[in-house]
This record gives sequence, C-alpha cells and structure tokens, in this order.
Amino acid sequence: MNPRNLFVTTALPYANGAFHIGHIMEYIQADIWVRFQRMRGATVRFVCADDAHGAPIMIAAEKAGKTPQEFVAGIAAGRRQYLDGFHIAFDHWHSTDSPENTELSQSIYRGLRDQGLIDVRSVEQFFDPVKGMFLPDRYIKGECPKCGAKDQYGDSCEACGAVYAPTDLKNPFSALSGATPELRSSDHYFFRLSDPRCVAFLQQWTRSNDRHGQPRLQPEVLAKAQEWLGEGAAPDEPGGAAVAGGKLADWDISRDAPYFGIEIPDAPGKYFYVWLDAPIGYLASLKAWCAKNGVDFDALLADPTLEQVHFIGKDIIYFHVLFWPATLHFAGRKAPDRVNVHGFITVSGEKMSKSRGTGISPLRYLELGMNPEWLRYYLAAKLNSRVEDVDFNPDDFVARVNADLVGKLINIASRCAGFVTKRFDGRLGPVDADAHAAFSAGWAGADAVAALYDGRDYGKAIREVMAYADRVNEYVDARKPWELAKDPARAAELHTVCSTALRAFADLALLLAPILPATAQRVATMLRLPAADWSAIGKPLPEGHAIEPYQHLMTRVDPKQLDALFDLPEAVPAGGDKAAAGKAAAGEAAAAKASAGATKTAASAPEGTISIDDFGKVDMRIAKIVACEAVEGSDKLLRLTLDVGEERTRNVFSGIRSAYAPEQLVGRYTVVVANLAPRKMKFGVSEGMVLSAGWDDPAKGPGLFLLDVHEGAQPGMKVK
Ligand code: 2FM
Ligand code: ZN
Repeated sequence: MNPRNLFVTTALPYANGAFHIGHIMEYIQADIWVRFQRMRGATVRFVCADDAHGAPIMIAAEKAGKTPQEFVAGIAAGRRQYLDGFHIAFDHWHSTDSPENTELSQSIYRGLRDQGLIDVRSVEQFFDPVKGMFLPDRYIKGECPKCGAKDQYGDSCEACGAVYAPTDLKNPFSALSGATPELRSSDHYFFRLSDPRCVAFLQQWTRSNDRHGQPRLQPEVLAKAQEWLGEGAAPDEPGGAAVAGGKLADWDISRDAPYFGIEIPDAPGKYFYVWLDAPIGYLASLKAWCAKNGVDFDALLADPTLEQVHFIGKDIIYFHVLFWPATLHFAGRKAPDRVNVHGFITVSGEKMSKSRGTGISPLRYLELGMNPEWLRYYLAAKLNSRVEDVDFNPDDFVARVNADLVGKLINIASRCAGFVTKRFDGRLGPVDADAHAAFSAGWAGADAVAALYDGRDYGKAIREVMAYADRVNEYVDARKPWELAKDPARAAELHTVCSTALRAFADLALLLAPILPATAQRVATMLRLPAADWSAIGKPLPEGHAIEPYQHLMTRVDPKQLDALFDLPEAVPAGGDKAAAGKAAAGEAAAAKASAGATKTAASAPEGTISIDDFGKVDMRIAKIVACEAVEGSDKLLRLTLDVGEERTRNVFSGIRSAYAPEQLVGRYTVVVANLAPRKMKFGVSEGMVLSAGWDDPAKGPGLFLLDVHEGAQPGMKVK
C-alpha cells in the first residue's frame, strides 16, 4: 500500500484560557496517532489553532481592558510551553482570527449562497440597551418561569431543571450590565440544513466508509447522527439548530455587531457565528502551513489521496458530523474522511470542574518536574477507540508508571546495557536465536500492534507490547546477568544474555515510540539505531554492533508528586506556597515540614499575630460579579450577585457605592470571604464579604479599591 497522505487536526481550543487536562489528553491522543503514521512512512500535516472569535472572548477581552486581538494574542503566547512540555508536535498553530480564515470562511459562505442554501429571516432576541448588543442566552438571567428560583440562566433552571427560552424568564436581566433586556428584531442568516439535499447528503456521508473500507464514524457516533437525522428526535443542541420531525432545522450562522468575528459578505453589521468559522480554521491553519513550507494549498486539498482526519471530544460531535461536512460539501469541497471522537477525562471518577478547582493542572504537572511521558503512557494505556471517558486515578497512575513502564520496560535496559559497556567494550555479542524466537512465539506481533495504533486502541497496543516485555523480563530473570557477571568463566553467556535482551529492548522502544518519543529517541541514540522507523522493528542487530554507554532512561514517580499535583493538604507544608509544594514533591517534605514547624513554635510571636491555622479558617474564594445594582434607600451599598463556583449565585452587600458605579463592576473578578456567617440586613441577607482596600484614617487619602484578580482565575477557586 502507498504511504498515506494525511491532514490531521485536533479541536481548536477557545482562546479564552489556558489549556486544561482535557485539551492535553486530546492532543496526546492525536499526537500518538500522527507519530505512529509517520513511523509507517505517511506524510502528515498535523495542525491546530486558537478558536478566537465569539461573544465570550469579546467580553473577556473588554473585562481585561484589552482589544480582542490583544487578548487572544496573550492566550496564544502561553500555548508553547504546554505543547513542547508534553511532546505534542503540531506542524503549525494558527488562529481563526487570521486573513486565511477570513478569506476561506467568506468563500465557503459564498459557495453555500450560490447553492441557494442561505436564507435571511427576522429573529426576535433580547437586546441589552446599556451594552448596545444582542445578548447570547448565557448572558441573560432571571427567575425560573417554573419554580421561581432567582438568578437562573437563559436556557435552563439549576434549581428545578426546567428547560426554557430566555424570553420565558421572569424579570430577566442582562448579566453584563444588570439592565432589563428589550426584545428586538434583527435579520439573521441561516444555513438551510432542512433542505432535502442536506439531509440526503448527511444520511449518506455519516453511513459511508472511508477509503480504507472503515466506517468514518465510530458506531456510537453514527448512532447519535442517525438519531439526529432520523425520525422524531429533537435534541437541544448549542448553535441554534435542532432536529424537527426527522429533518435538520436550519442553522443560524449570523450574529449582529458588536461581535468579534468575520464579516458576512454583502451584509453590513453581520458576522459569522463563531461555530461557522471555527472548523474552517482547520483549513486556514493548513493553508498557513502550506505558505510557510512552499506547498500549494489548493493542489494539496484537491489531491485525491489526501485524508482529512479530525480528533474531537464528545461534546462537539453535532458540529463535526452534521454542520461541518455539510458546510464543506455544499461549498464544493471534500467532506472529512474521519471524525475520531473521544470521551472526557475524569479525575478519580469525578467529572473535573474548573470552577471547583478539581482536575489536574497540566502546567503544575510540568512545573513539578513530572515526566511528560508518564502522562502520555498512562493516558495511552487507558485510551481506546470508543467514546468512553478516561479516568485519571493517582494510585493507578503511580502503579502503571512504576510497575509497568519503569519496572518492566526500562528495567530491561537498566539491567543489561551497563554490562555491555563495562565488560564488552560497548559492543553487542551474539543473540540467543532460540530465546529470541521464544519471545515472539504466540505473541501478537508488530503488525497487530500497528493495527491497534491505527485503530486508536492504544490501551490494547500497550498490553501487547507489555506482554512482549514480560517475556523478555522472564528471560533476564531466569538468566540473571548480575549473577553471570560475578563469574569470569561465564562472560560469553553474559554477553549473549545482555545482547539478546537489548535486541528485544530496541524493538520494544520502537513499538512504544509513538507514545514515548523522547525515550525512544534516547534509546535509539544509545543503541545507535534509527529512531521512529516502524520497519526497523524485528531487524537483527549485528554482532559487534557498538552502543553508547547506558544513560538513565526514566525515573519512577514519587507518590508525593501526585500529592503535590492535587495539592493534598498533607503534601503541602505549612505556608502552602508553590515552591514549598514543589520541594515536598521532590522528596524534601520532611525538611520543609520541619522548618515550617520550627517557625510555628518560634518562642515569642509578636502580639497580634495569628497562627496559620487561624488564617486557614477564613475561606476566601474567587468570585465573579455577574450582576450589580445600587441599593435603594442606601447611599453606601451596592448589591452584588456573585458567582462563587457554586450551584447558585450569592447575594452580597458591599459598602463601595462611593467608589464604583454598578456597571463598572459587572463581569469583574474579585475575592470574597465565603464562610462568613450570613448577615441579615435591612435590604436582604448578605452571604459573604468582598475584599477592598482603603485607609482607615480618611486623612491619609480617599478611596476604596476592590481587590482585582489575575486573569485566568475561576469562580470558586480558593485564595490561599
Ligand atoms: O468546543 C470548543 O472548545 C471549540 N472551541 C471547538 C472548536 S473545534 C473546531 F470546530 F474549530
Ligand atoms: Zn426552576
């Protein structure tokens, strides 16, 4: 078979925050697949980009006092450290806010319009008269029409679970300004997905196979697509499309100014909804890569051998198996060949929540000096081709890395390579052909492992590779090179045993190279063999082949590092600062604790000091001010509605009216004392206290200053 010609993407992350562990898992999954395909000789362009557009990013930028472009550039500047840190080797990282994407999106739109698939219709929506903009549903709040709960979002009630339209809310208000929204009409542009041509195309595309005769969608994804395309189903999907009576509803692809996005041709003041231009960003990124590398983008896309493969999470299936293929097809372009969907990552069985601060911080992982290949190996061991969630369990992580990766794989080299250097001048001896054949007898074989990689069944691939490693370890255990080394008369035997084991180890390193690229490279350097070449697996190593001295390949995980990663209290010495936690992780916990203890018991604390335990009683959290209004009858108080990462918002009164107008505060982040006993006031109950600064002595200067929070912090995070 000819080498494959691939164009591979991962979902484009919103440019409104740092990567979380879910992003990293997806990138690792795709990176393993890409590395494997390259080892098999494929030409792969592996690209991604920031998903820059949309109202939330526009609003976040405004809050940060930046233009959306500056805001997005700031986020983009932070990407590299994660990607390099976890060996994720995209060929190009682009942005949907780019000339390439503008041109492609507008041209694709024109294609749809020429097909008669664009309609313009008047839509009635809530408009914020203070901000001068139509409000996305998530920025409209009010009382639940069913149970009357206050402060509910525009689409559903967190108290009773009712689902409704924003216009059903009682006493609606804008979460941006606190103003009462007005219903206004505006023209919207729709992609007519209800057109029988679209439904027929999607029926055919979702069910068809790719060029390798493999279904282009996983069975559970196909089932979902059939449900959406089929009779009677009516899921509420984001993006304004739903299925009614067995056909797709038309998709609202426009948003009114002000909007951070791409202008719709011939429609002043109208922009593409972010989900229209986001996937086109895949093509834009490829186009930018082509320009950088002197490749003809149009010719590449027109190449019939080019396979377009997307890796995405299960939350965005709808966009990728309905909207995206239809958009491409009816704009006269080729629809994707494959859409590979993965589940979410859970942590110790719990859905991770950014707001509660659970989950794993990928940056903290790297800052703690944890080996990125541990995580790559662990996630790979748990990944399969189905849309299943992957659980990160700290104990399991330690066990798999230490017992399997280091204990089985690395151990082979560490037990044998040193002897070759020290005793045999760094040259391999003969290989025990019988033993070598026995490793493979009844073993699945490299082709089977290749098929598992190709099918994204990485967990099974690892099991097969480790089954081979088990056989090699049994051989080393039985032949005991460390015993042989004690007897000069058995030098030849020692040489053969070590050479036989190292030959097998070379294959093992190649078999795991897509998952452990850095280790595989170090092994290749040590054994003076080509790295990242699948066809080298099983090739004999000639007698007399010189190798480099053994260098330590990988350490074990210290369980304390996991404690530090999760910030478990016992791992963080008193004081709890990052550096101390890092030290604890590096095995200096005892020393750190001892010194913290010494500080604690220092003889004479100055009067007025409190212990760390006293301080720890104050539960300070990051709060987002989602609404704010002056309190009638008080010239001092503002009423703040705070999102503290809990199921419901909190009502807090604060005496800062002299310093701030309510609209100045909406959308800002601050710090709230969250465990202050609720205080009944004349105007209602105050459920916390926001922190502000000011002089006690007015002679020193006027002013009250609300505490600000550095960008990236999430409501509910603990301040410590
Ligand atoms: O869900 C998300 O995070 C989106 N930013 C994914 C976009 S994928 C593609 F369409 F760009
Ligand atoms: Zn309700």
